[in-house]
Amino acid sequence: LAEAVSGRLFGIGVGPGDPELMTVKAARLLAQVPVVAYLAPRPGESLARRIAAPYIPPGRTELAIAIEMRPGPEPEAVYDAAAAAIAAHLGAGRDVAVLCEGDPFFYGSFAYLHERLADAFPCMVVPGVASLAACAAAAGRALARRDETLIVLPATLPDAELAARLALGGGVAILKVGRHLPRVAALLAVQGLAERSVYVAQASRGGEVVLPLAECAGVTAPYFSMILVAGADT
Ligand SMILES: C[S@@+](CC[C@H](N)C(=O)[O-])C[C@H]1O[C@@H](n2cnc3c(N)ncnc32)[C@H](O)[C@@H]1O
Repeated sequence: LAEAVSGRLFGIGVGPGDPELMTVKAARLLAQVPVVAYLAPRPGESLARRIAAPYIPPGRTELAIAIEMRPGPEPEAVYDAAAAAIAAHLGAGRDVAVLCEGDPFFYGSFAYLHERLADAFPCMVVPGVASLAACAAAAGRALARRDETLIVLPATLPDAELAARLALGGGVAILKVGRHLPRVAALLAVQGLAERSVYVAQASRGGEVVLPLAECAGVTAPYFSMILVAGADT
């Protein structure tokens, strides 16, 4: 008897928003894979699904993983259930593509599915254009040059931790800005870094905003926003 062949799991980075920033490989796989899965925030629509829409042929089986977007620990039960639903397809021999905004392994929730499934099924990750690259492109400034360092920080860290890392110098990218904008802007001002900082929201998507941080007073930042702090000699 031939052994049953399981399907393959693909973690597909769909890039930061502009569908033209998806890779040729992502588009090719989406044309072939029978099952497409993605997180669908409740309420709202899946951003990754919207980005990849031009590349998903009609009639695919779609697995929308409903998830509440809120601060705090990751909802383990949601990922357990999603992994079980995906495993059912893989076990039946069907390939599954999980769509991920930006790059799957750069703060992507695909990591939570990967850790649940990669030991049991063949798994491939297709890297995507990360928001870091998209925000630098939108701002028109290099992330790092020569021997400069670049530190990536989530704005969700407590003030003391952010301040300690900002004090190390070099270039800094602060993700997950959203409602933390006033707090992070104040920290950057205290450290004399405000003048070197630029705010970028919705890079490569409709509604893209690029502003010097000094002009951000009163701005309501969406979740998809970032602050780039240039190194001292940039
Ligand atoms: C959970 S992380 C996901 C990052 C994603 N996997 C990537 O590779 O860029 C979400 C954060 O990425 C940043 N981000 C993602 N897309 C963005 C965009 N188009 N413009 C600005 N920031 C973005 C924001 O800081 C947002 O809070």
